[in-house]
Amino acid sequence: MKILAIDTSCDDTCIAIIETPDEKGSPFKILSNIISSQVKIHQKWGGVYPTLAKREHQKNLPQVLKRALKKAKKPRVDESKDSSSPSSRYTRGSVVDLIAVTIGPGLEPCLWTGVNFAKELAKRENLPIVPVNHIEAHILANLLPQISEISNFQCAKKAPLSSFTSFRYRETQLLISKQLKFPAICLVVSGGHTQLILMRDFAKYRILGETRDDAAGECFDKIARILGLGYPGGPIIAAEASKQVHRGRASVKLPRPMIYQKNYDFSFSGLKTAVLYNFKKQKPKLRKSKEYIREICLEAQQAIIDVLIKKTLRAAKDFRAKTIILGGGVAANKELRKQLKKTVQKELPDSRYLIPDIQFCTDNAAMVGVAGYFHRKETKNWKNVRANANLKV
Ligand code: KG4
Ligand code: ZN
Repeated sequence: MKILAIDTSCDDTCIAIIETPDEKGSPFKILSNIISSQVKIHQKWGGVYPTLAKREHQKNLPQVLKRALKKAKKPRVDESKDSSSPSSRYTRGSVVDLIAVTIGPGLEPCLWTGVNFAKELAKRENLPIVPVNHIEAHILANLLPQISEISNFQCAKKAPLSSFTSFRYRETQLLISKQLKFPAICLVVSGGHTQLILMRDFAKYRILGETRDDAAGECFDKIARILGLGYPGGPIIAAEASKQVHRGRASVKLPRPMIYQKNYDFSFSGLKTAVLYNFKKQKPKLRKSKEYIREICLEAQQAIIDVLIKKTLRAAKDFRAKTIILGGGVAANKELRKQLKKTVQKELPDSRYLIPDIQFCTDNAAMVGVAGYFHRKETKNWKNVRANANLKV
């Protein structure tokens, strides 16, 4: 089965075509995974400007679809047609069998652009649509192939199928039994969300806690803006911090908000404010120095990581998690990946630790295809598909 997946929840226009596992539980095959980034457009605002992002998605989607189809080696798009039309000559069963589209959570105007594009495509090609939750897609990105690194430090033993009886499909059982053991604690950290989620089974989620203000990625982005470093802030701050790491610990001290509170919630806006005060306090010459920027980036990154790890560990211990799962754009942060792995190894040696390959942490449509696969029996007629900016898992 081939799934065409679409994600326009934020500022990346993403379309992927994936081939789903066979009956023996073979891995997902990514035939194409095209991401058209709008970073350059939003850079000058220091964040995503929703109406601008929507316009870009509208412009990009037909082109991204063409590229995705071409890359998947089924270039059957009718080139003679107007490029603004998502129409193609492929039919049900020949190229794709199903369309999966992110309906939320995300930026409302952006979500609708992807949803409307998917609906038009579904109507023309007579294809069913599966609505996908973007947060669940970030979690299930862990089932995509690991290309650049092996994250499972514990060799996955094959679990008996009887322990997965509540799964709906046999191949799903086979696939998941190799990688996921329940209960799992999922830490989803992105530009819009920071959530700790208890996963008791496939599609059985409970949000244990979330941020009360800014998301972790948003905090990275806002700190970078304060320091005049550009957008998106996460990778830039990580790069600056990595330059400082070999020169000893940073002398700047920043707070770890809510770290000792016995709940699973987060708060990052105070950290951003602390960076702002520290920055303003410095003499103009010093705050522009490489040394200061590297120091404050290292400390800010570490403050975010400390809180994320502490709360994840608390949730994992409280719910006796057998798997710890990381997902979302901030999961691309190498220090977070490394430090969380080390903590799990030390404190929860019997638990598995899953992190997506770095390329599947930030927004992409391959992960949407995976989520679409698990919900493939929940297809909807295109007329009934709606975006929901506040959708919860
Ligand atoms: O999941 P994502 O691509 O989009 C949303 O769903 O929001 O996450 C984007 C966020 C941005 O805030 C970006 O700064 C952050 O992920 N990010 C990182 C890194 N790469 C991206 N944060 C820290 N370290 C990174 N290496
Ligand atoms: Zn995301």
